[in-house]
Amino acid sequence: MDSLAQSLLSWYRKMGRSLPWRDDPTPYHVLLSETMLQQTRVSAVLPRYYEILKAAPTIEDLASLKEEEMLKLWEGLGYYSRARNLRKAAIFIQENAIFPEDYEGLRKLPGVGDYTAKAILAIAFHKKAVAVDGNLERVYSRLERSEKEGSTLRKEAEAFLLDEIGEEDPSSFNQALMDIGEVICLPNGTPRCEECPLKPFCKAHKAGKERDYPKKKVRSAKKTVHLQVYILHFEGKTVFRIRPEKGLLSSLAEFPNAPGESPEDALSSLGFKAGPLSYLGQSGHSFTHLRWEMEWQEGELLEAPPEGFLLLDKEEARSLPIPSAFSFGRKALGIR
Ligand code: ADE
Repeated sequence: MDSLAQSLLSWYRKMGRSLPWRDDPTPYHVLLSETMLQQTRVSAVLPRYYEILKAAPTIEDLASLKEEEMLKLWEGLGYYSRARNLRKAAIFIQENAIFPEDYEGLRKLPGVGDYTAKAILAIAFHKKAVAVDGNLERVYSRLERSEKEGSTLRKEAEAFLLDEIGEEDPSSFNQALMDIGEVICLPNGTPRCEECPLKPFCKAHKAGKERDYPKKKVRSAKKTVHLQVYILHFEGKTVFRIRPEKGLLSSLAEFPNAPGESPEDALSSLGFKAGPLSYLGQSGHSFTHLRWEMEWQEGELLEAPPEGFLLLDKEEARSLPIPSAFSFGRKALGIR
């Protein structure tokens, strides 16, 4: 029987997905794609990957983007600290005139954690490293019927896969596992075991128990915050605000909002004087530890907004980095 690596590599040659960062895996392309792919699906990353490379074909171009330009390019992808760090990493690389090629050097780049460093080592530099994320933990836990969870599972998975990786092609080895994790060894519903090149090696499959792995952690429920959000007009312009520099969605733009169940009370807590409000609808947005339930109101201000708010026309609003949490408002206002 072929080894696990041989089975994986010959499957990848035939069945691996054709993805833009795979055509030309320069260190820059891999840093960019791996950063984008953290917490974001391939289908959402694809159009943005092209757009960012168009705006910044080289890492030096990325280093010369202003932070607002970087955030605007990232709009909708979420987890904006990734965008800020990526820009800082590009500046760091430009200043040092070298892209680090070893683990310690890569970890010095802002935003480059253990996973990203190992992905760059394997994919861009063809070194023996395995980048284990949640998908690979699942693949491994099924292969070996591992009862572990959390960081213990991750370490065990990495050690096992490093043992199997071989010398031939660490880049394809990693990316084949990523494909299996994303399209075959699925978390919910039915894993597509009949299509899996690792089927002969999979202990969970042999026992018909693939759905029992990985063992589930007990998660605490997310906290829900009820927000009143406003589209407020004054003299033909609309009110926005830039969020604080620290914390959730830091330094991004937002529609005025305040916690509460009563639209009128929340509005006066913000210091606005408005005419009658009309109810537009509700939306929700989940963050890692928190969920926002938002009620949207629209109204006309009776006097200019208090200090700290911006009054912008639509054209100006279009160039603000407004995160997806507020996409209901962007649509309602007709700025996408
Ligand atoms: N997910 C994370 N990195 C990936 C890659 N290089 N290809 C496909 N999916 C991925």
